[in-house]
Amino acid sequence: MERIAVLTSGGDAPGMNACIRAVVRTALNNKMDIYGVERGYAGLVKGEITRLGTRSVSDMIHKGGTFLKTARCPEFKDIKVQQQAAEALSAFGIEGLVVIGGDGTFRGAKDLSDNFGIKVVGIPGTIDNDLSYTDYTVGFDTAVNTVLWAINNLRDTMHSHDRVCLLEVMGRKCGDIALYAGAAGGAEYVLVPEIPFDLDEISSSIKKSYLRGKTSNMIILAEGAGNRDEIAAYIKEKSGINVKVTNFGYIQRGGSPNMADRILAARFGYHAVEMLRNDGDSCAIGIRHNNVITVPFSEVANGDKKFDKRLYDIAHILSL
Ligand code: ADP
Ligand code: F6P
Repeated sequence: MERIAVLTSGGDAPGMNACIRAVVRTALNNKMDIYGVERGYAGLVKGEITRLGTRSVSDMIHKGGTFLKTARCPEFKDIKVQQQAAEALSAFGIEGLVVIGGDGTFRGAKDLSDNFGIKVVGIPGTIDNDLSYTDYTVGFDTAVNTVLWAINNLRDTMHSHDRVCLLEVMGRKCGDIALYAGAAGGAEYVLVPEIPFDLDEISSSIKKSYLRGKTSNMIILAEGAGNRDEIAAYIKEKSGINVKVTNFGYIQRGGSPNMADRILAARFGYHAVEMLRNDGDSCAIGIRHNNVITVPFSEVANGDKKFDKRLYDIAHILSL
């Protein structure tokens, strides 16, 4: 394979630029032509494709976001729209495609591969860490550390004012950001979609902790676990203690990628190009037990993301 392209799709994640850099430089090192597609599938359909060189990715390794830009393109589920994408690739003579994104992006990749025979390799790039076949996705580690920074700051104020705080973090239906940031930040309560929780119990526990002299408490809520304002209002009503709500929002999605995400991005980007160079089948790249793996797109969605219940239990015991 001599000519390939790369795109980023879905929500941006720290490390996407480092990953594009790895794809570009690995391709060039193998004397392959490398093209960048702007704005994910939305740009691909419109033929927003440009040639990249080694300098295109200079000074990119440390930058958050994605210089190729990203987009949600709901119409890409339509096979006629996918056909336009296939035609755009063919017009540029592009034989293989690297997509960096989450499960939605991989569904689009599978369609391009199944319906039009395009060789596509998927690299997991999302802060959510919600893909079951891989231990980690590019961007997750940085996002968790950004949330941890927020928890540290909130702790100062909650402690100074004897307050209870509820911090909502992202993750779609996955509680990993909440779990890891909550465990590392010493949060008293971590509310995730994977584990049922009892707000009456939490309210009474917060009340009791006040009576024992513990006057500040931190609740981390994964966005998929419930409505932040309703939960805070319920706890306030039951415990008689005010709950201050913070929604951390997009701040956790930006920022310079940390070491873990840059290394993951480098390994994934390198392997993705190797797969295309060796004319391998379309697949998703992942990491398991620190080994880079490949799985067919048909297996990406098999099984629920494994939630680390042991870490959840340990975090709870340590927070009392
Ligand atoms: P992520 O890739 O992070 O999960 P999205 O769910 O927004 O983010 O998906 C990114 C893009 O992938 C969508 O905007 C759409 O273009 C494409 N996509 C999502 N689901 C499908 C699908 N079922 N079939 C084809 N393309 C899809
Ligand atoms: O998938 C990444 C993510 O940030 C999720 O955690 C969140 O639910 C979603 O994207 C937000 O999407 P949007 O960018 O459309 O607001």
